[in-house]
Amino acid sequence: MGIIVKSRFEIDTMRRAGRIVAEVLQILAEQIRPGMCTAELDSICAQELARHGAKASFKGYRGYPASLCVSIDDEIVHGIPGKRVIREGEIVSLDVGAIVGGFQGDAAITVGVGEISPEAQRLLEAARDALMAGISRARHGGHLGDISAAIQSLAESRHYSVVREYTGHGIGREMHEDPQIPNYGHEGQGPVLRKGMTLAIEPMLNIGGWRTEVNADGWTVVTADGSLSAHFEHTIAITEDEPEILTAV
Ligand code: MF3
Ligand code: CO
Repeated sequence: MGIIVKSRFEIDTMRRAGRIVAEVLQILAEQIRPGMCTAELDSICAQELARHGAKASFKGYRGYPASLCVSIDDEIVHGIPGKRVIREGEIVSLDVGAIVGGFQGDAAITVGVGEISPEAQRLLEAARDALMAGISRARHGGHLGDISAAIQSLAESRHYSVVREYTGHGIGREMHEDPQIPNYGHEGQGPVLRKGMTLAIEPMLNIGGWRTEVNADGWTVVTADGSLSAHFEHTIAITEDEPEILTAV
């Protein structure tokens, strides 16, 4: 299919979708509390998306049953909201997708619930920094591998591993467009980046090894060694100069 370059107007629409995603994530981060079950977060997410006139991207995607992904501790991504109760000290990844005017926004944050361990805190900071390092290399005339390499080197410099079996992705009318964006790679390799490309960059960092497994529910991706994992994601647009974060409030 190839990488689809968006017009100014299309990016304006994606910014609207992205802002709603960011607002919903902010609300979820404010509302999350020990004792809550993850299904409650999904209800808030669905309600807020609807209130903003957005459609939930994830619901029904390949049969996914919810509007939100909630992935706790050793869960990396794609945790299905349900009866699980959130506990103090856990780290919780919240991943939201919205469709507005036919275009998608996709973003994730990982938040600590109450007081978390210093190890968990450092992991969250590294995952956030890895995302920002990747975004800063999303520049017209650069290569896709510049983004991947920046994420990998930030993560590994702090002795974390990057998940290899799941990647970021192009995004636009579809949630997943070309190219796949691995969180590891080499500078100067891969397709050339051009203004108007819109990308969902999403590093997943583990304290232990990079290997993953999928739970019996068929969705929840966990670290094979049970170590903690954190995930941050933004939808961005490549411009003539600085990349623009579309999933910002
Ligand atoms: N942010 C995730 C992704 O880009 C969300 C997909 S969850 C799914 O793949 F349920 F929709 F698959
Ligand atoms: Co994504």
